[in-house]
Amino acid sequence: MKIAIIRCASCADLPSILDIERASPAAAHWPDSEYTSAVDYPARLLLVAEQNSQVVGFAIAFTAIAEWELENIAVHPGSREQGIGRVLMNALIEAAKAAGATEIRQEIRASNLPAQRLAQSCGFVQDGKRAAYYREPVEEAILFKFIMVPAS
Ligand SMILES: CC(C)(COP(=O)(O)OP(=O)(O)OC[C@H]1O[C@@H](n2cnc3c(N)ncnc32)[C@H](O)[C@@H]1OP(=O)(O)O)[C@@H](O)C(=O)NCCC(=O)NCCS
Repeated sequence: MKIAIIRCASCADLPSILDIERASPAAAHWPDSEYTSAVDYPARLLLVAEQNSQVVGFAIAFTAIAEWELENIAVHPGSREQGIGRVLMNALIEAAKAAGATEIRQEIRASNLPAQRLAQSCGFVQDGKRAAYYREPVEEAILFKFIMVPAS
């Protein structure tokens, strides 16, 4: 596995983040302005994975309440299956622990098996379904949850 550095995104990363999102049909798709406003916005955490000085993945979470929500995660198609998604997930989990979050939630399309397996391999457990949650195509969401273990 090649080493990826995880850090908070800056405005300079936005073109790469948008390129990765647009190249990832299974990712959530947002207007550019959502990502722009997420940089340095206290209610969101926008992380990027960097390899050889290139941004190759990102994750964005809503962090305003104790139940964090992983809203989107994507790795550039040319950099997948090298452990980068897992490193991003683990960095998010560590950030949530440090911030005192109680859980992280994620909704994933029923057909998106790579994202479901990534979540499960990082300790998320299935926590219900939402019928007809997604559009184009209509599809149910599988709900996943990572429960923080309180420090003893
Ligand atoms: C989901 C995604 C972020 C995974 O990123 P990645 O860097 O390829 O994942 P990793 O290499 O870290 O893999 C971690 C685990 O995820 C699972 N996984 C990743 N890709 C997979 C695939 N194509 N098929 C099945 N499982 C897969 C495996 O369990 C893997 O663990 P293993 O290597 O021990 O088997 C990536 O496929 C992606 O960007 N998909 C498009 C965007 C998307 O669907 N986002 C989720 C929106 S909810």
